[in-house]
Amino acid sequence: MEMTYFKQLKNLLDEDDKLAALCNTAAFLFETIDDINWVGFYFIKGDELVLGPFQGRVACTRLKLNKGVCAFAVNARQLIVVNNVHEFEGHIACDDRTNAELVVPLKIDNKIIGVLDVDSLSLPRFKKEDEDRFEIVARLISERLRY
Ligand code: SME
Repeated sequence: MEMTYFKQLKNLLDEDDKLAALCNTAAFLFETIDDINWVGFYFIKGDELVLGPFQGRVACTRLKLNKGVCAFAVNARQLIVVNNVHEFEGHIACDDRTNAELVVPLKIDNKIIGVLDVDSLSLPRFKKEDEDRFEIVARLISERLRY
């Protein structure tokens, strides 16, 4: 399944318009990944993370880079899984039904430009196989964002 899955994602990303590519990517991830209630992008603008294309409920538009799981992933420069967001100090609850969160940074030439954020109602939700999948997804998206 995986080859076809990533090929499908590549096809969606292979769209000249970056915004259109990211909108369909968010929809594709939301449709194909079990048990998630939100998936989307935040991009660094100044000292904030600003909301990008997403699927799910209305979300926080701007996040500071010193608070929350998304900011933590940016500062840690790596994928972060939080099994229980209620135990994560500083977690920002855009949707208070969310229980678990995975955030993976998007990098161009080793510079972090934003994150892909995934939320779930399950407690916990994200396993090693999800981490592996989202590392690849983030790499494919990051490659697309170069141009
Ligand atoms: N929970 C995130 C904020 C973004 S929403 O989950 C969509 C955080 O703590 O950074």
